[in-house]
Amino acid sequence: MGNVIDHYDGSAPTYHLQYDPDHLWQQDEYPPNFFRLQMVTRILSEVGATSVYDLGAGEASPMVSIHRDLGIRVEGSDISPEMVRLGREHLERHGLRGEALSLVDSRDAEAVSAERARRGEFDAVQALGVIPHVTDDAAFVRAMSSFLKPRGTLLLQFRNSMFSMFTFNRMTKEFILDELMAPIPQEFKDAVAADLDRRLAADLPPVRRRDDGHGYDEILARFHNPFELAEVVRAQGFEDIRFHWYNYHPTYPMLSGQFDRADYWKAQAALEHEGTWRGMFLCSAGVIQATKTA
Ligand SMILES: C[S@@+](CC[C@H](N)C(=O)[O-])C[C@H]1O[C@@H](n2cnc3c(N)ncnc32)[C@H](O)[C@@H]1O
Repeated sequence: MGNVIDHYDGSAPTYHLQYDPDHLWQQDEYPPNFFRLQMVTRILSEVGATSVYDLGAGEASPMVSIHRDLGIRVEGSDISPEMVRLGREHLERHGLRGEALSLVDSRDAEAVSAERARRGEFDAVQALGVIPHVTDDAAFVRAMSSFLKPRGTLLLQFRNSMFSMFTFNRMTKEFILDELMAPIPQEFKDAVAADLDRRLAADLPPVRRRDDGHGYDEILARFHNPFELAEVVRAQGFEDIRFHWYNYHPTYPMLSGQFDRADYWKAQAALEHEGTWRGMFLCSAGVIQATKTA
């Protein structure tokens, strides 16, 4: 498993391109994070947040954009020194204070509590693309919660394991055997595993790899079951839990090559605000919105 810090230090210089309207559609991959940022900006506006703390803020593109669109206080932190260095420059280029972004590992409870003492409380806290990279979900939600006022809003992004039910590949097989059939005896699982090998494209998707050994599939990048993650959030003192979905797929990914890339991306983008139960299966990622009880 590669190192998360090295991975993000390496991607920091180009990370902003996925948010840049001039480059958005020139890249090799569809830009889901652009739609994620639109979604969280809309929710922050709806709940009337006047401040947001961004845990795992990257190179501050979301902070800059949210401040530009909503005019609210934005502060945050990240574990990657390169993200923080470039993020501070980015903030200053847009008239914000570079110190609004700190170097903090969310898993380090002492560092989080020192950061909380420095920053104070916020109306909202967001973590976009971060929980896939940590192992202790409850501790992560506690760290987020520590920045929130009572009745404040939590926005927690996750990679959606339910999407496996629409991919018909190796991820479907793993989801069925490891999650859906978890309480079922091994002899039944063995029969299903052998049958699924005939029905599914169990050798797909190929592992994404970069030459330096820090490709996204080589770092810790977990999927979460939305129902289980919602329970973790609830147990940390949250209510009014809602799911929001993004990164829609109009077909399962292995069919995408049959279509013109621009047409496929257009169909994906057209679905991004679909907003119904379908997102739980058509989307590879989601955001949990929840209110801190006290
Ligand atoms: C997928 S990027 C998203 C960045 C930003 N939230 C955005 O939406 O553009 C995930 C970020 O989380 C940071 N990260 C990963 N693990 C972390 C941790 N334990 N503490 C703080 N930041 C972390 C990474 O360095 C990276 O910048």
